[in-house]
Amino acid sequence: QQPVRIAPSILSADFAKLGEEVRAIDAAGADYVHVDVMDGHFVPNITIGPSVVEALRAHSTKVFDVHLMISPVDPYIEAFAKAGADIITVHPEAGPHVHRTLQLIRSLGKKAGLSLNPGTPAAAVEPLLDLVDLVLVMSVNPGFGGQKFIPGALDKLRTLRALIDDSGRTIDLQVDGGINRETAAQAIAAGADVLVAGTATFQGGPEAYAGNIAALRGAV
Ligand code: DX5
Ligand code: ZN
Repeated sequence: QQPVRIAPSILSADFAKLGEEVRAIDAAGADYVHVDVMDGHFVPNITIGPSVVEALRAHSTKVFDVHLMISPVDPYIEAFAKAGADIITVHPEAGPHVHRTLQLIRSLGKKAGLSLNPGTPAAAVEPLLDLVDLVLVMSVNPGFGGQKFIPGALDKLRTLRALIDDSGRTIDLQVDGGINRETAAQAIAAGADVLVAGTATFQGGPEAYAGNIAALRGAV
């Protein structure tokens, strides 16, 4: 388990001033900038595409952690890589050949992430361990910010923490959805080392961001 890193999800930012928001979370101590890409098909919501990622790239040098909730996904990987993503995370449920998708991400020089929906077992990662730099445990069904943490995610985190440790590889274990101080502490104890937080980062407005991020990082 590596030191805890915080990845604010800009889904909860003010979309009318995204550049400012990204600068604000960077200054407030965010480690990653988590970008939720939704297509209205894989998930019941529509957000942003590669051109927005490209426009935001100039506003922060932090790790751009792009979470693709789109299907098909393969045709868009290169565009997000070119737009400035550092990590590209995909769902195995988004297409028939997730192994190929992860290879494609790596071939573009980017870190590859695999995201597991609440209904997808931890074992889905096993045949792909060589190809992933990050495993994302969804603790809500993807599509919207502000949902309630699903406690079953904790067991999945524990299983994956053991799997990653046994592999001897350096793989981020990320959790996404319903993270607040209380669930952050539970997720860290279960083995998570990257916390995605939308609502819990952006609540209270820009003056509160630094305190919000510090509180999550220090959650016990
Ligand atoms: C959900 C997204 C999350 C979401 C988290 O589909 O993947 O990143 O924005 O939002 P909160 O932290 O508000 O649950
Ligand atoms: Zn996300």
